[in-house]
Amino acid sequence: MNFDFDAITDRRGTNSSKWDAMERYSGVSPEDGIAMWVADMDFPAADFLQEAVQGLIAKANYGYFASDAAAIEAAAWWMGARHGWPVEPDWMSSTLGLGHAIALVLETFTDPGDEVIIFTPVYHEFSSKIRALGRVVHESPLALRDGVFEMDFEALEAGLTGRERAVLISSPHNPAGRIWTVAELRRLAEFYARHDLLMIADEIHHDLIHPGHRFTSWLVAAPEAAGRSLVLTAPSKTFNTAGARHGMVTIPDPELRQRFRTALHAHQTQPNLLGLELARATTC
Ligand SMILES: Cc1ncc(COP(=O)(O)O)c(C=O)c1O
Repeated sequence: MNFDFDAITDRRGTNSSKWDAMERYSGVSPEDGIAMWVADMDFPAADFLQEAVQGLIAKANYGYFASDAAAIEAAAWWMGARHGWPVEPDWMSSTLGLGHAIALVLETFTDPGDEVIIFTPVYHEFSSKIRALGRVVHESPLALRDGVFEMDFEALEAGLTGRERAVLISSPHNPAGRIWTVAELRRLAEFYARHDLLMIADEIHHDLIHPGHRFTSWLVAAPEAAGRSLVLTAPSKTFNTAGARHGMVTIPDPELRQRFRTALHAHQTQPNLLGLELARATTC
């Protein structure tokens, strides 16, 4: 399994969002600026991903497929092997990436006017999706203490309105670069349970960890929260495959899972063949 991190490819002019949409978004042209605004990398895909795609092409068939089970098995294996989180494959559902997953989760489990707590600053799609769906952003600004960004539980408790319905976290946190400690996650578990909220943990960056640090997944830190939690993961940041639009929503609770699957079905949402093949290949 190999990535060549030294072989930088020039993606300018290749319909790369990072480079070719930069001027539209920021006014800075790709000739003048270095694109560092999105977690998307400039080295070639790993050899095993290329082999997987070549295997797909060799079949010369892009028709309907029977199931996403192989990709799901791969993802479940990854959570157990790498993160010590024993996930039943049956708990997982495929989505078209995590922006899609966040929107669908909010639409399914909250109502217009409900407040969703986010710890700001945070990945911009959290607030844009909450607002686009007619829900209300409940900001809990991170506190900077001794150079470290922390959740400010005292301020959060003091500012509650009673209309909060869910908490949406980025773990590790984008952009603060924090890996939440087990103690912080447990404090959050105590908070969300006391206020009877739904917990949505976006763990898309779970593999991008500096040496010497250790990421703890939400349900490893707070297993008792399984009945009220949804965990969002994807292979896309780890393997630089965001264009394949594949993510997973893991829901241990059968009733919540069924509600989510009904929503997926209603939207006729199925992953695409390329995303599934790339996800499956990550266990080879
Ligand atoms: C925390 C977080 N969640 C979700 C996404 C987007 O995921 P996707 O590309 O699967 O829609 C990003 C992208 O950078 C992110 O940082």
